[in-house]
Amino acid sequence: MATRVLSGMQPSGLLHLGNLFGALDNFTRLQAEHECFYFVADWHALSTNYEDTTRIREYTRAVLIDWLAAGLDPERSTLFIQSRVPEHAVLHLLLSMITPVPWLERNPTYKEKREHLKGRDLSTYGFLGYPVLQTADILLYKGDVVPVGVDQLPHLELSREIARRFNQLYRPVFPEPQALLTEMPKVPGTDGRKMSKSYHNTITLSDPDATVRSKLKTMVTDPARIRRTDKGNPDVCPVFTLHQSISAQPVIAQVNQECRTAAIGCIECKQLLADGLVTRLTPIWEKRRELAQKPMLVDEVIDTGTRKAGAVARRTIAEVSDAMRIA
Ligand code: TRP
Ligand code: SF4
Repeated sequence: MATRVLSGMQPSGLLHLGNLFGALDNFTRLQAEHECFYFVADWHALSTNYEDTTRIREYTRAVLIDWLAAGLDPERSTLFIQSRVPEHAVLHLLLSMITPVPWLERNPTYKEKREHLKGRDLSTYGFLGYPVLQTADILLYKGDVVPVGVDQLPHLELSREIARRFNQLYRPVFPEPQALLTEMPKVPGTDGRKMSKSYHNTITLSDPDATVRSKLKTMVTDPARIRRTDKGNPDVCPVFTLHQSISAQPVIAQVNQECRTAAIGCIECKQLLADGLVTRLTPIWEKRRELAQKPMLVDEVIDTGTRKAGAVARRTIAEVSDAMRIA
């Protein structure tokens, strides 16, 4: 049987280079060879943002537009929105009946996030149950392979445990989903830390040419290289790390060499990076412009994806209800 790929992304706003190199490029590669389901996890966004939901709808659409602009093809992949397929909630409820609370409480992501987002009251039922909803997302489509970042591994482990428990309690219905950790390069933001919306250090896929260039101008470099005549070390320079994800091989080799001898300066080095990035982003900008002129096209993609996802989801719920001998 063919492998089914499934993954979701929370609607956190305009996608940035970290999302592109970390996840989206993988999604796009996978769609060439597998049956793929990709959805925007807008219900998951509620688990931490229930107090302020004003932008979830807008961000959900923004993510879908970025996906399409970056190369996800609705002819190949089923693209949809979680909340438009209510079966996610049905399976979440059924799985919640068989999931022991201690499994959720010992989840390291749960503990870390609660610590990290101290300003918010995350003592809710929904936040604890986040991985159960994620499990429902995956099992509803009998996903075999789930491309995710390392931070998601504990969730995937839990999904496998819940699938196993269901299969043992009733009858084998679900495959145990495997995480797919394809090489995810570290993508530094302009301040040298990991690129992340919460650090305000991102370059987004929709930043225009001038913004890309000015953001790169202020980007942190090898801190020991102060004067133009100082020799630099690309191995510790976040600009060079970006070069490695973006620039053509000869440019990478040139920077790697000339930085060490001070033959190239940081300004010129960043210009080369900006050129490479603009080359990479131009087709995305063009596609984005096209979509902006045809909002109906985006609606159509969502409607078609929802219909396809819904049909699969309803079949699974029928099978699950039968296995559990309800209704
Ligand atoms: N928890 C994932 C994240 O924050 C998003 C997500 C929700 C997901 N449901 C999923 C990922 C199902 C993979 C499969 O990145
Ligand atoms: Fe970094 Fe480039 Fe400057 Fe070297 S030349 S320190 S790689 S920005």
